[in-house]
Amino acid sequence: MLRATMSSTAPPQPTVVLGVCGSIAAYKVAVVARLLVKAGVRVMPVMTRSATKMLGAPTLAGITGNRVHVDMFDPSIAGELHVELASEADLIAVVPATAEFLSALATGRADDLLRATVLCSEGPVMVAPAMHPRMWAHAATLRNVAALRADGVEFIGPVFGEVASGEVGEGRMSEPEAIAEAILARLAQVATGAHRDFDGRQLVVTAGPTVEDLDPARYLSNRSSGKMGYAIAAAASARGAQVTLISGPVALGAPAGMNIVHVRSAREMQAALDAALGPELTRADALVMAAAVADYRPGEVHAAKMKRTGATTLELVPNPDILAGIGGRREGGKPVLVGFALETVSGDALICAARDKLNKKRVDLIVANSASDAFDGDDNRIVLVSRDDSEELPRASKRVLADQLLDRLLPLLP
Ligand code: CTP
Repeated sequence: MLRATMSSTAPPQPTVVLGVCGSIAAYKVAVVARLLVKAGVRVMPVMTRSATKMLGAPTLAGITGNRVHVDMFDPSIAGELHVELASEADLIAVVPATAEFLSALATGRADDLLRATVLCSEGPVMVAPAMHPRMWAHAATLRNVAALRADGVEFIGPVFGEVASGEVGEGRMSEPEAIAEAILARLAQVATGAHRDFDGRQLVVTAGPTVEDLDPARYLSNRSSGKMGYAIAAAASARGAQVTLISGPVALGAPAGMNIVHVRSAREMQAALDAALGPELTRADALVMAAAVADYRPGEVHAAKMKRTGATTLELVPNPDILAGIGGRREGGKPVLVGFALETVSGDALICAARDKLNKKRVDLIVANSASDAFDGDDNRIVLVSRDDSEELPRASKRVLADQLLDRLLPLLP
């Protein structure tokens, strides 16, 4: 049996079957494999025939210390290889996943080792698609992605960026570090049994900055990248929640498997939230307000580009405080409200400012962070502040922090 050919004892560490499809991005899977091995994961590579044209099997064998499987019918293996692999895997990750693979999986084809292994598995299946943006945007791919998502397949990316042809768009594979991070976070959930604990829950998440136009060429905005809000939306979706992500303009790819509403200004975000939460605010179990909403907008939006006329003064008018408005209108415990507080202070002063916001906006939890930690990077340091308590979470990736925040949010849900 397969287990006997690889090791004589049961593996003490989590096992990932790492599927590789034939995309140019396949060379990056070597980094993913390396990061997983470094994190203590047992990685079992399975390559499609076309993947072997893109990346040498000995590379993955060398990195993982395990044999690379390609053939469904390997005479040196007793038993059914796809059944053995699927049974041993705590998780299957396909990196990169081509349009062809997604299509095959969406229709349940099992005509090569990787497809048959995925079809045979009972654990989580994660895919990191890579393809030309026109292929990703094609109606057939969109149909397949929707079907796979409905089947519980979890998507890591793709992201917006440059693809192999040199063109730019959504279809670039997520960076190997982000893929490894997502796989490790999911493995941790499997280990603690925390996966799918948001099944049947409705979550609304806002993310990114708002942009307040001054004239056709200029605007007021802020440095929010949207990464924290997107990480929360992706983590909640992976844990089974129905997510509506209301996003200001960001340079991040749209995560699959959720309803995304793109907005520009604070007032557009407010309108999108009104629609998502409903007049009685009862359509969501929780609202996570990670967006950096601009507090002010220009008093006048000029239809033509403003000309230089020497010294000038801008009149700014306040935007609605969206979260405080929702907190003030809420009756009962629904939706649970999570606000963010970005401050330029730290320590006790940060907790104090966060609790002040919690009381003023009538929310249940504030995620407090310092401007020096929060912007743009892939990791952050946060303090969770509730009415009577505060908890400092050590520096970690935004995805890991997102899961920790969801762990704290779950018991608060009605
Ligand atoms: N927020 C909002 N509407 C605004 C401003 C902020 O809904 N017009 C939300 C943010 O999404 C965040 C929380 O309120 O969840 C706190 O945002 P922050 O900008 O830190 O607080 P402000 O209320 O704007 O306070 P200040 O800028 O004076 O610190």
